[in-house]
Amino acid sequence: MAIYAHRGASIEFPENTLAAFQRAVDLGTAGVELDVHLSRDGVPVVIHDESVDRTTNGSGKIADLTLAEIQVLDAGRGEKVPTLAEVFDIVAGKLKVDIEVKAAPAAAAVLLEVARYPTLDWLISSFYWDALRYVREQSATAELWVLWPSATDEAIAVGREIGATVLNLEYSTVTEEQVKRVAADGLRIGVWTVNDLTEAKWLRDIGVVAICTDDPARLNEVFADR
Ligand code: G3P
Ligand code: CA
Repeated sequence: MAIYAHRGASIEFPENTLAAFQRAVDLGTAGVELDVHLSRDGVPVVIHDESVDRTTNGSGKIADLTLAEIQVLDAGRGEKVPTLAEVFDIVAGKLKVDIEVKAAPAAAAVLLEVARYPTLDWLISSFYWDALRYVREQSATAELWVLWPSATDEAIAVGREIGATVLNLEYSTVTEEQVKRVAADGLRIGVWTVNDLTEAKWLRDIGVVAICTDDPARLNEVFADR
């Protein structure tokens, strides 16, 4: 079961910052998960919410702020809101990156950016299935993960339609039967966001292949098999 550091090692460092991603690299996790929005001037930036209010000392919607305005903000302990390229600079060739497209228009910019990093091991995930469809139109080979709270018939159908490899689900909705059912459609199940070792072991035992955790230091010790 592959351990993905959710927003980086976000239990130890401010989420979605270079410090959090560097910690995951140092831990040797299989991957990191991050969230992408577009700045007003069209630069993909790594931040979870659609505004900067919760995670920085600024305020306003990311889509209304230029990169320069975003980069002066403090994202915690002096960290900045990184661009996608800044994160790629530290993870390329080291671990896989789950790029969650949080705003559908960001998908095109993400594809341009990944093309600049030949050693980058990446996949794109999104709750915005049209963004995933767009990526598939642009790339026959892109690895796609369908994000959804649970394994609904609609989510499974979209996974088949776009040739996704993984349905990435909220962990408490997952059952062993679902893992088997989606396997018949060529899909596997990943989960978010699990910080508890007992839950993680049960999910591994029923066949979940990837787990997003805020606490990769703890989970990676137990599940270092990738
Ligand atoms: O990887 C999926 C997970 O990150 C989705 O939830 O809100 O943490 O982006 P959220
Ligand atoms: Ca996310």
